[in-house]
Amino acid sequence: MIYPDSFSHVTRTMKSSLIRELVASTKNIPGLISFAGGFPSPATFPKRQLAEIFKDVAAQEGADVLQYGASEGDALLKKELMKWEGYDLSPDEMVTTVGATNALYYYGRALIDPGDAILCEAPSFLGSLVAFDALGADVQSVPLDCDGIVMEVLEARVKSLRSHGKKIKFLYVIPDFQNPGGITYSLDRRRELISYCSGNEIPIVEDNPYSRLRFSGTPVPTLYRLAREEFEGSAIVTEIVSFSKILGPGMRVAFAKGDKELIGKMVSWQQKINITPDCVAQRVVARFLEKGLMDPHIASICDFYRPYLQKMLDELEKNMPQSVAWNKPEGGIFLWLTLPENVNADELFVQAGQNKVSFIPGSKFYPEGQERFNTLRLNFTYSTFEQIEEGIKRLAALLK
Ligand SMILES: Cc1ncc(COP(=O)(O)O)c(C=O)c1O
Repeated sequence: MIYPDSFSHVTRTMKSSLIRELVASTKNIPGLISFAGGFPSPATFPKRQLAEIFKDVAAQEGADVLQYGASEGDALLKKELMKWEGYDLSPDEMVTTVGATNALYYYGRALIDPGDAILCEAPSFLGSLVAFDALGADVQSVPLDCDGIVMEVLEARVKSLRSHGKKIKFLYVIPDFQNPGGITYSLDRRRELISYCSGNEIPIVEDNPYSRLRFSGTPVPTLYRLAREEFEGSAIVTEIVSFSKILGPGMRVAFAKGDKELIGKMVSWQQKINITPDCVAQRVVARFLEKGLMDPHIASICDFYRPYLQKMLDELEKNMPQSVAWNKPEGGIFLWLTLPENVNADELFVQAGQNKVSFIPGSKFYPEGQERFNTLRLNFTYSTFEQIEEGIKRLAALLK
């Protein structure tokens, strides 16, 4: 048999993101209420505005954007992004990519040699962890508390890894409305983290798909902004921003900002793997920004999601037994539940499926061997109010 015998070692041993498989496994259950996926609501996609811009871009700029484009990304989009974010960067400090997934892969590809350690939060977004794992990284997780990554554990882990001769290539964090935990790092923890990582030469990659989806409270500056503004322009942080939860994941547009040399290497990988990101989608996003549509659109998404988050929090409060705890995020798309120690959310997932409700067990968000089993993730942006009410009741009944 040619296949699978000819598959490369890395392909044969590659892990999949179990989350997609879990979501798929429940897809055909009739009447299922799913809080499992990480989907934005299609009601938030700016379909009408995008339809017009796509039409205009194809008609008026087609000769340019239907051609092969630059591997470093559309210059016009980069200019608009800098204006939007209020940065005065040189274009070689930014690369646009096909979703954050692509940017994270290039980042990992540029830095990881097989056997290198990388650090991540526990729990974390498994999609990124399996990509780093496929690049040969030894993925080490550090727990979170309600203010962010636990510094004492991080420091001890760094010491221990280095004393064993391990190279630590970077720390992967999601500081705003974290997936899956929903937590947002405090300002103090952000400063502590940058200060520690700068002092110990540990690059940070800040994955930021959610910070702009803030429904209440005060925004906290990103690690990237803090590093530049308070740490002498430090280039230790690379920030990756995705438009997936803002314009729709099908757009596949994201961008990364960071140190010039590193961005240059990410561009080289993009050249090899993709040639260029989608030029039409990039230009459409550029024109969307240029027309001043982005901020009002984001405000309308927040207005749309706010009552769904509140509804889920209210239903949890009304229905869950005392022994279950959850966080109260001010934005994002997820809630995180902590069950009594003796309840295994993997087992609960099976029972929940039989009762036509689903979620993602928390264990799926930890590197292999480092799992915790009494937690679960709920998404509140893809269900109706009625589904939230009924689904939380079903889940609570099982837990009772
Ligand atoms: C933390 C995090 N990073 C990356 C991604 C993937 O983003 P993209 O659609 O831009 O590839 C997601 C998607 O859910 C996410 O939650």
